[in-house]
Amino acid sequence: MKEVVLSGIRATGNLHLGNYFGALSKFVRMQNDYDCLFFIADLHALTTHPDPKMLHSNVKNILAEYLAAGIDPEKATIFVQSDIPEISELYLLLNMHVGIGELMRTASFKDKARKQLGIKSDSDDIEKEIIGNESNKRVNAGLLTYPTLMAVDILIQKAHKVPVGKDQEQHLELTRRFARRFNSFYGVELFPEPENFNFGGTPVKVPGLDGSGKMGKSEGNCIYLIDEEKVLRKKVMRAVTDEGPKEPNSPVSQPIQNLFTLMELTSSPETLQQFRDAYADCSIRYGDLKKQLAEDILRITLPIRERILDIQNDDAYLSRVVRQGAERARERAAKTLQEVREIMGIRKF
Ligand code: TYM
Repeated sequence: MKEVVLSGIRATGNLHLGNYFGALSKFVRMQNDYDCLFFIADLHALTTHPDPKMLHSNVKNILAEYLAAGIDPEKATIFVQSDIPEISELYLLLNMHVGIGELMRTASFKDKARKQLGIKSDSDDIEKEIIGNESNKRVNAGLLTYPTLMAVDILIQKAHKVPVGKDQEQHLELTRRFARRFNSFYGVELFPEPENFNFGGTPVKVPGLDGSGKMGKSEGNCIYLIDEEKVLRKKVMRAVTDEGPKEPNSPVSQPIQNLFTLMELTSSPETLQQFRDAYADCSIRYGDLKKQLAEDILRITLPIRERILDIQNDDAYLSRVVRQGAERARERAAKTLQEVREIMGIRKF
């Protein structure tokens, strides 16, 4: 039997290069060798209160982007999270075994809670702010229990491998902990402990173009798969750099390292080496580096963009794909949920 692979992406906008290299490109490569399920996490998107008028079109965009990037619905099961009501029930049941403390210590929770409360500082002591905040700013409980919902997505399909970027590793660690805890509390071997998957490499963190941290939808530093050629070139040409190396073999600053990292993902090893050598001997011209980088990114994104434009308005095709996917994913989810209900002592009269 093939191992089960499951992964998803939140329905919060179009997909960027971080999503592509951290997740989507791996989905496409895995679909031939594993029993794959890929979904669109619309329930997770609700934690940050999207405009209800936009949510459905965001789901549709990601679906079109999955297909355009090469996920084949005949090989992999593609579905929308909210089409599987069993997930919501297992979320309630699993929460009975999840500690508030461990959820509050999760890095992604602290980050988003700070954002929701409008706190800028990096102080770790946000618990007080969360409990003591009497203004009408609040941190919603869905945000706190985000990792439970993610664990349920994975465990309900009994997945072994979960291809995700580096930023999701803490959530995966929690998923393994919840699986172990459930199994040992009830003395069963129901849930496998899932692992990240990177074809033997290390998990990637795709940097943004602003010289600082990772590429992210809320950071405004993204290159999107759907970006037009002109827009994409402009973004790359505007990427933050530094004043250039002053002497041979200078250390590489963060903004330049970020451009090299993007090159590692998109350019040939020879091209990358050529620019690294030019940096080392101070002959590098950042304008040339950026031109080359834009060229190499476009080689990957433009064909995907064309297919997105082809697919995104084919409503009949899109709904056929997710209806068929939901049917397959639900059948498996219902089976696991029934096992959990029995294990926990919930029986029908
Ligand atoms: P989300 O929507 O934030 O991101 C989707 C995927 O893209 C990866 N990613 C990145 N990888 C490398 N560098 C980056 N800059 C970058 N930005 C995003 C993420 O690691 C992720 O793999 N919680 C998940 C969605 C989810 C899920 C799941 C994933 C819900 N349930 C079950 C796997 C299994 C999330 O917010 O991803």
